[in-house]
Amino acid sequence: MSLSSKHLLGIRDLTPADISIILKTATQFKEVLQRPIKKVPSLRDVTIVNLFFENSTRTRISFELAERRLSADVINFTTSASSVSKGETLLDTVNNILSMKVDMVVMRHSASGAPHFLAQHIPAAIINAGDGINEHPTQALLDSFSISEKIGKLKGTKVAIIGDIMHSRVAQSNIYLLKKMGVEVTVCGPPTLIPKYISQALNVNVSYNLKETLEWCDVANVLRIQLERQNQVLFSSLREYSLAYGINRRMLDSLKKDIVIMHPGPINRGVELDSDVADSRQSIILQQVENGVAVRMAVLYLLSGRNPSDN
Ligand code: CP
Repeated sequence: MSLSSKHLLGIRDLTPADISIILKTATQFKEVLQRPIKKVPSLRDVTIVNLFFENSTRTRISFELAERRLSADVINFTTSASSVSKGETLLDTVNNILSMKVDMVVMRHSASGAPHFLAQHIPAAIINAGDGINEHPTQALLDSFSISEKIGKLKGTKVAIIGDIMHSRVAQSNIYLLKKMGVEVTVCGPPTLIPKYISQALNVNVSYNLKETLEWCDVANVLRIQLERQNQVLFSSLREYSLAYGINRRMLDSLKKDIVIMHPGPINRGVELDSDVADSRQSIILQQVENGVAVRMAVLYLLSGRNPSDN
């Protein structure tokens, strides 16, 4: 089994067959992670650098754990402790690291397209760990893995993506993936946080009404307001946003069914989700984080070029 692309730059470039292979491989690695000894030799002698030019908790730790579970050699790079602060370019930084015989690069960057730029200039396989407002492909893969695990299927499921759609790479990658796999998608939020032509461009439903959206969906994937990516006022206040689009217990109890609550993290408790929703039995937020390790093991393994006979 192999993927149609050498890199994972975005879900947009993957075929439905690629997505199925990754999700199936992740199921096998999830089984490995339930064993007393969670480590396999699959990527022994493969060296991977984690280049994080932007803050991260979940993605950075999850990639590092996935790499170590696969027995890869791991190098971690953070901007603040590097020569980037002395003016070194992205390309010079990466070429210097690669000259030390690095095989794969995991990169997060605040500039949309940064991993695509690198892919044109370096020979190593690149995995996008989030680029600006463009894509966060492994988040979308772990989200779909978690939906499939909870609901039992992807095709025909109704998924609502709620919140700041405009500035969210998680929303964009999720929409690409869910639509490729036959999922019905509605995006919901204030009109100023939903791109104008998203319905035609990405074939999703648009709703500005939270209650109606929750009544429609099987799964609500709730997003944080990305204040750090907004350079103008797009809603009156966080309090008013929360009153119109925050999900609370009373609202969930008023629905005629139990829906699944997801969130990629970090959560702003009391804004998009109340604590008694985020921590409820309907929430699979921590399962998403757990599944992230197996999904990233699958991506790293499939892009490494290794096959089972190498072990
Ligand atoms: N979901 C996600 O990307 O979280 P981090 O920013 O903590 O990696």
